[in-house]
Amino acid sequence: MMPEPIIATTFTLPDEALALLRVVGAVAGPDGWRDALAEAQALLCLLTDRVDTALLERAPRLRVVANAVVGYEHVDVAACRARGIVVTNTPDVLTGATADLTWALILAAVRRLPQAERSLRAGEFRGWGFWDYLGGDLEGRTLGILGMGRIGRAVARRAGGFGMRVVYHSRTALPGDDERALGAERVDFDDLLARSDVLSLHAPLTPETRHTIGRDALRRMRPGSVLINTARGALVDEAALADALREGPLSAAGIDVYEHEPAVHPGLLDLGNVVLLPHIGSATRGTRTEMAMLAARNVHAVLAGRPPVTPVPLAR
Ligand code: DGY
Repeated sequence: MMPEPIIATTFTLPDEALALLRVVGAVAGPDGWRDALAEAQALLCLLTDRVDTALLERAPRLRVVANAVVGYEHVDVAACRARGIVVTNTPDVLTGATADLTWALILAAVRRLPQAERSLRAGEFRGWGFWDYLGGDLEGRTLGILGMGRIGRAVARRAGGFGMRVVYHSRTALPGDDERALGAERVDFDDLLARSDVLSLHAPLTPETRHTIGRDALRRMRPGSVLINTARGALVDEAALADALREGPLSAAGIDVYEHEPAVHPGLLDLGNVVLLPHIGSATRGTRTEMAMLAARNVHAVLAGRPPVTPVPLAR
């Protein structure tokens, strides 16, 4: 009898994902995945796992790398393809949760929620004050979106509820009907910087997009504007961001992702006008379960000899 395929997972899976995987193989969990690599035919991994040639050399029987997040800059996709290994990710299932968190950051940064909360906890709330705890407005302002993929579009969809205008900059234009439905206008990068009261980043991290928001771009943003990043930390030069928050033109920022996670630039930690979250864009129980399930479905499909459900695109 053929031995069961080994499925290695770097993280704890929910029961329903384990049940699905056990239909096609034996699962080696977070404590044993490294030892199991030599025999493993499938690997479930996260953005904190580097899937590079060194790892692939230790895993000669791999058929599928099921990355249980949507971003895949930590996976050497070309090296996997050269070895005939399928790479998958988890688009769609985390779009809503990440767009919601983006709006939580927009509101927190613009209305200065952390400052107000810190002040109350410090015993400084002495009763309602007409000129106390003032933030900015959203209605009638312009939301700029860099990268109009699934999450960018979901963020744009929510903007209507806040009465904001939407401009976006993206390599590919949306079909006209989608632009009309979202009320979104495509602009060039300079215009995006010059017109956005709130600029929200939703581009993938590639060598080309690294530090897109560097010192020069920050200098060209509107006085008093707000930067939001729930995509990837290295899209932004964090040292330059700290300077732009201290000296202008930015009035505030909301950041969920960092250049060198888990490290946060000390210049940001020192500032009161930036909301800092620990990379929780997709962190709802339902969404994380869906992400694990989609990764498991991808492994199940490949090991059963079927095409993967959500392979990463050939090029981006
Ligand atoms: C991703 O999926 O790439 C996020 O950063 C984690 O949800």
